Amino acid sequence: MKIAITGKGGVGKTTLAGLLARLLADRGDTVLAIDADPDANLGSAIGISPEALGSTTPISKMKDLAEERTGAEGDGFYSLTPYVADIPEEFAIEHKGIRLLLLGTVEQGGGGCICPEHALVRTLMKHILFQKGESVVMDMEAGIEHLGRGTAESVDALITVVEPGSRSLQTAKQIWKLAADIGLEKHFVVASKVRNETETAYLQAHLPETELLGVIPMSDEVRQADMENIAPYDLQGEIVESAKQILKKLEQGLK
Ligand SMILES: Nc1ncnc2c1ncn2[C@@H]1O[C@H](COP(=O)(O)OP(=O)(O)O)[C@@H](O)[C@H]1O
Ligand SMILES: [Mg+2]
Repeated sequence: MKIAITGKGGVGKTTLAGLLARLLADRGDTVLAIDADPDANLGSAIGISPEALGSTTPISKMKDLAEERTGAEGDGFYSLTPYVADIPEEFAIEHKGIRLLLLGTVEQGGGGCICPEHALVRTLMKHILFQKGESVVMDMEAGIEHLGRGTAESVDALITVVEPGSRSLQTAKQIWKLAADIGLEKHFVVASKVRNETETAYLQAHLPETELLGVIPMSDEVRQADMENIAPYDLQGEIVESAKQILKKLEQGLK
């Protein structure tokens, strides 16, 4: 199962990514969690302590590695398909059966330049998504720039997280346009921070039924856990139950 999670800032993407990664790992999947948000915090949502996370540098910011792997140090020419197979092993942080890789993003240069860092990140994404037998949970920003025509096929599900309100729905629509452009048809929605039936009804009215995988309730426990640096999954309350239902519906939807 390879899942990419996107949506407007603050809607609950990282919370959902952490829950799904932990759920998949607990049932025995080999899980690679990818933090592709420059404002990286998937580690804490998985339950990794700040000490263990340390001051890890995202792969996209490892200029020397990119230059070494692409052979860009010398004459300005470089490979667009650098060797990346060892990178997940080399740089991932392990926790509860999950390997977490900090990927980050590469800023787009003027004129759509492809720099060595782009080549490295793009090739790495391809490698990870083509890898058989491994589950991937990817926490992204409000976009899908890590995915392209070549990789869309390998993503089992693009999940856009929305909250009750028109702004996150607007962002979702923009994301679906981008997804359609690269041929990523398998997209779903998770509603997050939902307070009551009225809010659920609002979202149901604005979303196709087939796409809505489920609802994560607004939870004081999750807010509290965030303050105390505890992973939402370790709360083992209604929030985990809702994530279980979401995963179940996703797998049914993909059959
Ligand atoms: N279901 C929820 N109930 C209450 N607070 C939540 C819920 N989901 C997320 N949050 C809180 O909202 C903030 C943003 O969540 P996060 O998952 O980091 O969003 P994103 O990754 O989309 O920016 C965090 O402080 C988080 O603890
Ligand atoms: Mg996030």
